[in-house]
Amino acid sequence: MQTINTIKNLAAVLKHWKQAGLSIAFVPTMGNLHAGHLKLVAEAKAKADKVVVSIFVNPTQFGIGEDFDSYPRTEAQDAKQLAAQEVDILFLPSVAEMYHSNAKTTVSVAGISALHCGLSRPGHFDGVSTVVCKLFNMVQPDMAFFGEKDFQQLAVIRTMVRDLNIPVKIHAVATIRESDGLAMSSRNGYLTPEQRKIAPQLYQALCAAKEAVLAENQAFAQIERQQRQNLESAGFAVDYFSICRAEDLLPAKQNDNELVILAAAKLGKPRLIDNIQFKIKAL
Ligand code: PAF
Repeated sequence: MQTINTIKNLAAVLKHWKQAGLSIAFVPTMGNLHAGHLKLVAEAKAKADKVVVSIFVNPTQFGIGEDFDSYPRTEAQDAKQLAAQEVDILFLPSVAEMYHSNAKTTVSVAGISALHCGLSRPGHFDGVSTVVCKLFNMVQPDMAFFGEKDFQQLAVIRTMVRDLNIPVKIHAVATIRESDGLAMSSRNGYLTPEQRKIAPQLYQALCAAKEAVLAENQAFAQIERQQRQNLESAGFAVDYFSICRAEDLLPAKQNDNELVILAAAKLGKPRLIDNIQFKIKAL
């Protein structure tokens, strides 16, 4: 595995690959890799000739008072794991390499970026869509891999790729969970042992809400309220718990078939997000 820090050196390698007609898969990350990221890499390896993984803790997607400074940075350990998976390039740019000091352009996906996480993290998805668009321009991959755990992020990126005709196929990869159901996340490391015991209740609440919907309970608002209450009683400060249409993440209505329940909640300092997708009727 080659570690590359500059756009120029990256371009030089990509040129050879393109000339040789090799397909390129890309996995963008912020590092502190866990089994969820390694699954993205494994899927990428299975589908393309060459795999590029980026590690870049992107300042523009963190709000004021969020955890940009304390976000876990474990590049040496991450690089070992990626080398063991035979990744071809680890792209590890600095903030100065990624952002021109006089940068003026932001990619913003209207509507969907303002919902759910966008309400409590204003500007977050503009930071994500801008950096992912820039990384796509730098890496020029044929395909890119994102985890379904960040379901709204995936929807924002799919919309950006569609609207800007970016020639990259987006692959979604299922969430990897700990044995007690907690979705893997770099932010799980912030949980105290006590909070870690409570954390799986977020996924349990999503599963319970799904079961209630499948039991032909169409009182979505009531189901949401019930699960919010359960989570609050367990010690979570719930940001949102919303039964939505998978397509556009707007509130689900009676005849919608493909649903996703999205949730975000703070447990002390850490903010956890998770979701569950399902169809009411298998078609
Ligand atoms: O999901 C992440 O880790 C980040 O939001 C991403 C897609 C790498 C952009 O910084």
